[in-house]
Amino acid sequence: MKYLNHTQRIWITAASIIAICLINACNGSDPDPIVLTGDLLNIPYTPQSYTIVKPAHFPEIDVPASNPMTVEGVQLGRRLFYDPMLSADSTMSCSSCHLPAGSFTDNKAVSIGIDGISGQRSSMSLLNVAYANNGLFWDGRSPNLEDQALRPIEDPIEMHNTWTNVVEQLKQHKDYPTRFRKAFGISDRSEITKELAAKAMAQFERILISSGNSKYDRFVFKGETNLLDDEELDGFIMFNDDALNQGVNLPDAQCFHCHGGLINTGNKYFNNGLDSVSSLDDFKDVGRFIVTNNPSDKGKFRAPTLRNIAMSAPYMHDGRFKTLKEVMDHYSKNGTAAANEDPFIRQIGYPIQGSNPIKYTGLTEYQKNALVKFLETLNDPEFVNNPDIQNPFQ
Ligand code: HEC
Ligand code: HEC
Repeated sequence: MKYLNHTQRIWITAASIIAICLINACNGSDPDPIVLTGDLLNIPYTPQSYTIVKPAHFPEIDVPASNPMTVEGVQLGRRLFYDPMLSADSTMSCSSCHLPAGSFTDNKAVSIGIDGISGQRSSMSLLNVAYANNGLFWDGRSPNLEDQALRPIEDPIEMHNTWTNVVEQLKQHKDYPTRFRKAFGISDRSEITKELAAKAMAQFERILISSGNSKYDRFVFKGETNLLDDEELDGFIMFNDDALNQGVNLPDAQCFHCHGGLINTGNKYFNNGLDSVSSLDDFKDVGRFIVTNNPSDKGKFRAPTLRNIAMSAPYMHDGRFKTLKEVMDHYSKNGTAAANEDPFIRQIGYPIQGSNPIKYTGLTEYQKNALVKFLETLNDPEFVNNPDIQNPFQ
């Protein structure tokens, strides 16, 4: 959106005051409360463009043209993200379920909202969420961060507020109107909208990017080739089905097919074999089906990022596994043979000679532990401790 410059704004404000005077016959009565008074016009609007800091080996970040990154926008978004004023009883902010220490999750199996009611799903890490370009949430039902940020406020089992309420509080706040002015150039506090609030929060979320200094990054991209010990290296090899190339005797764990790429996800949807169902109609949570209406998408969820995964327990969309070891036990069982389970889940381990159709061995205790050790090389404490993304009110 293009904003008017200072002089244009003064003219428009003056013109609207005259127009309203004419309508009201300027009889000295109190002005209509919805009149734009231009109460913020004396505050300078000089937004500084914000360059997202990302590791050199990470892909470019798509920023929508309709919401360019500014220093002022990011700072406003950060405050909104951490401000409990956004929930009905002022007890819960976005950060209540997305805490830095949990790599922006709440470390609960399923999230609990302001009324103490449990949701169905586990909070998601917001690390590298700027790269989630194939739908947000476990089922992908939200198209982008600007849309997503509108939802938790009014979700009855999350913040259980109304935007009308929130926007009214923001307008009357001692600090926010100035910040909206500085970020978006509004001339009057009555121009604060939920869309602008969501834009600011989206700007803040786009800066939640890996430091690029995890052990994994240093090993793969920074030439520190002696960094991983034997166990971590074995996990790395199995994760990437690379034993043949490396000339070692290790099975394929198939992980990279779904969690591959620099940010460890291809943003695609799969059934990774969690539930044993006799019919696709029996999934407790239909997942991706909500969006596509395609029956074969029932029980499919987005393969999430594995960066900082050791910090975001428990695991899966419903938080059913408490530890990474339990996750490995799951994959090692080669799934449950639901009709739409991804074939790679059945192919973890060595093929068993003579089985027809071919079955796979799963993984030994050593191999499972090695995979967990490898996943821990994705830990990025520098990201979770980055001062720019912490609670600004503390
Ligand atoms: C009560 C806990 C709770 C609160 C409060 C909350 N979230 Fe979430 N958040 C979740 C859960 C649970 C999910 C996954 C929901 C799903 O898939 O249906 C999620 C998912 C997300 C995602 C999707 C991430 C991805 O990779 O797809 C984003 C972005 C997000 N939340 C941002 C926010 C913002 C911004 C706020 C505040 C306006 C907020 N959340 C408030 C629990 C919460
Ligand atoms: C066929 C695709 C596929 C393969 C192969 C696969 N995963 Fe997954 N993974 C997923 C999906 C989809 C989810 C989310 C499932 C859900 O919550 O319902 C997931 C979830 C996870 C989680 C939990 C993430 C979280 O935030 O809760 C971990 C950890 C994980 N996978 C690790 C691995 C490892 C290690 C391997 C290899 C042994 C592997 N995955 C193989 C698709 C796959």
